[in-house]
Amino acid sequence: MWEPDQAPRLARRCLKDLGRRWQHVEGVGRLADQLVADVGLPEDVRAAAWLHDIGYAPDLALTGFHPLDGAVYLSECGAPEEVVGLVAWHTGAVWEASERGLSDRLARMPEPSEKWLDVVTLIDLVTGPDGVATTPDRRVAEILGRYDSSHPVHRAVKFSGPELLASAARARAALGLSDEWPLGSTERMSEAAGPSPARGGAGCDPSGHDQGGCRRDLLRGLVAAGGRGGVLARSAPAGPSTRCFV
Ligand SMILES: [Fe+2]
Repeated sequence: MWEPDQAPRLARRCLKDLGRRWQHVEGVGRLADQLVADVGLPEDVRAAAWLHDIGYAPDLALTGFHPLDGAVYLSECGAPEEVVGLVAWHTGAVWEASERGLSDRLARMPEPSEKWLDVVTLIDLVTGPDGVATTPDRRVAEILGRYDSSHPVHRAVKFSGPELLASAARARAALGLSDEWPLGSTERMSEAAGPSPARGGAGCDPSGHDQGGCRRDLLRGLVAAGGRGGVLARSAPAGPSTRCFV
């Protein structure tokens, strides 16, 4: 059964061995925690922030496109549609899906609210690859520099950069955040974050059973069996799938 407060544990379980990737995710999650306290960020948005990059977990790789792979996994785990949609569409995923020839698959994922998609994108863009706060324009430049010009991520961000910055600006306005946020709020961040989440917590199985993996074989089998008409379809049966928890 899906429980939103398990998102930090689930993220840690799947990403803790990925070095800077986990540092980034932990930074994003803690900023979301701060926004829950400061502006009443909805729990589903907080969960999506913690889980937005879960598709980078090697055991979850299906297509190699992390927003989609993460969203598929969360859907199988019974995550709410808003969480699945926010993960699927976060931070310009629509552009990268186009670059990777996966637009049709992305289009089958739930569409989240634009407001909260802007917010998840903002938090992602103000958190550097090592979890340190930055600015959206520096982050966009950092991504372009990190990936070769022929890489789908580079090509996507090259085109989507202006819209990503606009998305971040809309989110700041919607939440009443300063143009500098979160820079300068480090102390408040650490106070709001509290102790590091869920050391030694549950595994990728949200039921709490440590299965030692992220269900790669299970998910590959599901895609092989159902493809776009199965696990990737919006019309998939409602409710948590026992296939995720066995
Ligand atoms: Fe991210």
